Amino acid sequence: MDHFLYRNGALHAEDVPVADIAAAVGTPFYVYSTATLTRHFKLFDDALDGMDHLVCFAMKSASNQAIIKVLADAGAGMDVVSVGEYLRAKAAGVPGDKIVFSGVGKTADEMRTALDGGIRQFNIESEPEMIVLDQVAQSLGVRAPITVRVNPDVDAKTHAKIATGKSENKFGIPISRARDVYAMAGKLPGLKVIGIDVHIGSQLTELAPFEAAYSKVAELTEQLRADGHDITRLDLGGGLGIPYTRSNEAPPLPTDYGNLIKRTVGHLGCEIEIEPGRLISGNAGIMVTKVIYVKSGEDRDFLILDAAMNDLIRPAMYEAWHDIVPVIEPAPGTEPAKYDVVGPVCESGDTFAKSREMSPVGADDLVAFRSAGAYGAVMSSEYNSRPLIPEVLVDKDQFAVIRARPTYQEMIARDTLPPWLG
Ligand code: LLP
Repeated sequence: MDHFLYRNGALHAEDVPVADIAAAVGTPFYVYSTATLTRHFKLFDDALDGMDHLVCFAMKSASNQAIIKVLADAGAGMDVVSVGEYLRAKAAGVPGDKIVFSGVGKTADEMRTALDGGIRQFNIESEPEMIVLDQVAQSLGVRAPITVRVNPDVDAKTHAKIATGKSENKFGIPISRARDVYAMAGKLPGLKVIGIDVHIGSQLTELAPFEAAYSKVAELTEQLRADGHDITRLDLGGGLGIPYTRSNEAPPLPTDYGNLIKRTVGHLGCEIEIEPGRLISGNAGIMVTKVIYVKSGEDRDFLILDAAMNDLIRPAMYEAWHDIVPVIEPAPGTEPAKYDVVGPVCESGDTFAKSREMSPVGADDLVAFRSAGAYGAVMSSEYNSRPLIPEVLVDKDQFAVIRARPTYQEMIARDTLPPWLG
């Protein structure tokens, strides 16, 4: 459930008419709902009730300061994958001991910044990374808390570009080698082994792959304990999928996911950490855009929008589906039209949807892309010198711009001429 509903014939973000935001900030823009963000965080938090746990929001899915602050105020920790995300979390007031550092290529500088500023744990992905962290920690006279990310070789049954838990993926250490790697970690004086980490992919729409992975982690916990390691924390990753279409998708609910966690690893007495991104932020945001033209082609109609692939790349990159709805509610019984929905960028890949059946719209009408809160704004770029589009946050009947659209002058001023061209 989200908070983008039609009321009196007009799409609202909570209590604010989306058209009012468009009038104030111009199109295109992203708008997020505070109530949806907190509701989804709470679903996870409640699902793990009864276990010592921390839900760490995967900031890679949405990393605006205001979004981090809303979730941190609700009690969330943060999962970061770069020093940039780490500094964003800190700037939003998240304490170091609620920030987990994930990612396959952390540099020594990134490790140093996190150790200096405080960190809950590093999720280590390789032996070379482990050695570098040991050296950095020793040079600072501290012991870095770590888990090792294991790759359980489980098929997450999701899009190939977002599956991470198969042996052919670059992530983690093969679970078959885990005991050796933990033995090595246990000997490094700059490290303190505290647990195990696993993450098998994103937009998972079945529980079975989680079950397979977590059962392997449970088994490994017992082996590592027998080897003398103090395993007190399990980071079980993120990845629970969301419904991108209102009609036919019904991914598992966080409650069922929580029960699965209790069933597979609950008996181990470990503190549980999860790192969901999409399920918290995905349906908490929409992208609003205006129709520039409706163009009749040879055998189809093109809906040319003022948003493009640089603003929302998921359809071009993963063939992802986003529901596209008009901001003015269509009258009951309106016959759908069929469009290829495209942006103004100069490549054919700038296509949001092909032969999409949707309510008929015309030039200057506003349309909204649903479920665009995760991996939308964070993956946008200024390709074709199109300014990054603004982000807006709604809370009940109030809204505020939380990232402004840059002016063209600001964009141009970021470039500098070398002296020989001056
Ligand atoms: N933890 C780790 C280590 C991850 O790699 C990811 C996502 C997450 C947590 C959060 O997963 P989530 O709960 O959001 O599924 N850009 C793609 C998704 C990439 C996901 C990468 N890793 C998309 O737009 O679908």
